[in-house]
Amino acid sequence: MRKDLTPREAADLILKGKLVAFPTETVYGLGAHALNENAVKNIYLAKGRPANNPLICHFSDTKTLFQYGKKSNTAEKLSRYWPGPLSIILPHEGKIPLSVTAGSELCAFRIPDHPAALEMLRAVNSPVAAPSANLSGKRSPVTAEMVEEDLGDRIDGILDGGRCIVGIESTVLLLENERIQILRKGSITEEFLISEGFDVSLSSEFKSSPEKLLSPGLDRIHYRPSIPLYFLLEEKELEIDSINLKKSAAPFKNPGFLAFGKTDAPNFIPGENILYLSESENLDEAAHNLYFIFETMKRKSWDAAFIRPLPEKETGRAVNDRLKRACTSVAVVKNREIIGYLEN
Ligand code: TXA
Ligand code: MG
Repeated sequence: MRKDLTPREAADLILKGKLVAFPTETVYGLGAHALNENAVKNIYLAKGRPANNPLICHFSDTKTLFQYGKKSNTAEKLSRYWPGPLSIILPHEGKIPLSVTAGSELCAFRIPDHPAALEMLRAVNSPVAAPSANLSGKRSPVTAEMVEEDLGDRIDGILDGGRCIVGIESTVLLLENERIQILRKGSITEEFLISEGFDVSLSSEFKSSPEKLLSPGLDRIHYRPSIPLYFLLEEKELEIDSINLKKSAAPFKNPGFLAFGKTDAPNFIPGENILYLSESENLDEAAHNLYFIFETMKRKSWDAAFIRPLPEKETGRAVNDRLKRACTSVAVVKNREIIGYLEN
């Protein structure tokens, strides 16, 4: 596996039907030629990804993209945020293999905002199907080293473009005429789209029931870090009598705390066991650091990590959304000590 590919070499490998991880502004993608069914099949195999979870097709420019995805008024208006951390689901009119879209007539389209990715995509000059470059269910990689650790022995090369700027996956939008539904929250936020004059509704996500999800990648359990992560909520924030608390089996020996702002960790956290998502309470910085910190945690000898939900606004919503799926459960705190865990 080559780790030092140039964009041109990465494109050549993709044109030969190989799997190449490449950087984007959000997270690293695992790219294959979208019109090569065998290459697409290999993406699913490499990730251990269920075949019912469709892939995003990446392009270098809107002209080529709209040759594959059907243009509408709203799609055209939204295309002004490309290149950018946005995926738009559009009818593909049979131009994209059903193995990419998991049998759907709709396909997700995106132009990533990363110079090396754009150079590679221009050289391929065809749609590149790419999920995040991690094993299915795990957190997305934001550096070439994280990709190598997850998938190094299963792919043909990595185009190293440094650490991803945004740090969480793109916002995924479904269009219904003039209305926009947010299927996956990201750094292009609900607030931003509303302020730009779009008619936005949030999808009712978090369905853990077996009914068919609109977007199968929005599973309840996802983005799991390597040690258990718990949300911390104050008892007074909950209506506790109506909730059953489970006692923890054994207390953690060396727990850590992920902080947003210069807040104190609870008493049960050893003083030095603290990592900052953002010391200055910047929600975009917290997103940028999220998966990188999941990786840093792994190198500590922490046996669990605790985090308070971020403010539920702007990119904070997108980070909370990842955290809800990444967390094992919710730890309830009273007087800075854990009094129990919420039943899942
Ligand atoms: O930022 C990103 O979007 C990254 C980079 C590499 O572009 N890609 C990424 O891909 O996060 P992936 O496969 O890990 O997540 C794609 C999400 C999944 O939740 C998937 O279910 C949804 O988009 N999706 C893709 N195609 C879809 C479709 N046709 N209909 C509904 N949901 C779709
Ligand atoms: Mg993914």
